[in-house]
Amino acid sequence: MGDLHFDTKALHAGYDYAGDGGLFPPIHMGVAYPFDSGEAAQQICAGERPGYTYARTINPTNAVLEERLAALEGGEACLATASGLAAIFLTILGLLEEPGDEFVTSNRLYGNTRNQFEISLRLMGFEPHYVDRPEEMGAWAAQITPRTRFLFVETPSNPDLFVADVTGLARLARAHDLKLVVDSTLASPAVLRPLGLGADVVVHSTTKYLAGHSAALGGALIGRRDFVEPLRAGHHHYIGPTMSAFNAWLTLLGIETLAVRMPRLISSAQRVAEFLATDPRVLAVSFPGLPSHPQHAIAREQMGGGGTSLLSFEVQGGTQAAWRVLERLQVAVQATQLGSNQTVAVHPATTTHGSLPPDVRLSAGIPDGLIRYSVGLEDPDDLIADLDHALA
Ligand SMILES: Cc1ncc(COP(=O)(O)O)c(C=O)c1O
Repeated sequence: MGDLHFDTKALHAGYDYAGDGGLFPPIHMGVAYPFDSGEAAQQICAGERPGYTYARTINPTNAVLEERLAALEGGEACLATASGLAAIFLTILGLLEEPGDEFVTSNRLYGNTRNQFEISLRLMGFEPHYVDRPEEMGAWAAQITPRTRFLFVETPSNPDLFVADVTGLARLARAHDLKLVVDSTLASPAVLRPLGLGADVVVHSTTKYLAGHSAALGGALIGRRDFVEPLRAGHHHYIGPTMSAFNAWLTLLGIETLAVRMPRLISSAQRVAEFLATDPRVLAVSFPGLPSHPQHAIAREQMGGGGTSLLSFEVQGGTQAAWRVLERLQVAVQATQLGSNQTVAVHPATTTHGSLPPDVRLSAGIPDGLIRYSVGLEDPDDLIADLDHALA
């Protein structure tokens, strides 16, 4: 599939039409796969012969999704997981070696990614180090110690839309013999392919743009086969955060339209961001497609423009004012989701990032008056009219 274009791969990669599955891959809900001999059982379980064993490891529906995602990201292999957070956790288990190991991460993170780092990983003896000014390469370099194993970055970041220089970070990682992990959920492979820019592992919450329909929770990690397959046979097999076949199937359904959804979503987000940027009732707007965005040039270079349909904006009056705006929206739905076909808005300081201490929230660019707004496939004129009414 190497020579095909992205849009073509989104429809065909990983599926063999010569089987008896039909035009769309079937859902394999069976949990175990019969062996035809003792020898076959031993060899398949040992990974010496191809074949399926038990659905915690993989099933034929997930295999199609994994091959498709690997093809879309330009990676060798993919492991689909029950959620985006599971993909992040497994990736990190695959990169850290022993308690006391460290990693360096941007402080611009989805709230529960930060909680995973601070609570779950610290409990295991692993040490995250945060970069408060992730736009400065020197700030990353300053956090690297002999115990550092990898760099982690979310780009664009949720909800303040920091855009990382993936090429620069990959160079820094190489110079220190470290791996680079990129959470590219907000961009999707339709916009950004971090492996091609030098990253080692890409992680996704497939719950967002990849699925699009908000009907399936899921995650994925993509990288070299010699990283992904030992994880599947190791930590993934022991812990069991497997994506269900039904969710893999729903995610495949979403991916079929990713290449046409993303440009439309991004251009609508650009229009909404431009409306908000000129509105005196709005204190600030963050969207990588606006020339005022601090990493606008990187966004153009690495993502071809805005790169996502998520934007955030700040209103005067803190939490209460933000809540009033959200309550007055009639088209956008108030929910903790993004990357959905429907426009979704939320107040991060009291929901997605509500568990973070206020100083951590503020340093990650999340003031109390901030509203996160994920532009969907509605007519952008309706979204602008809805915002205009809500801000009144
Ligand atoms: C950037 C990013 N990464 C990871 C996650 C976690 O994904 P999931 O909810 O599928 O576990 C989210 C969720 O919002 C996210 O925004």
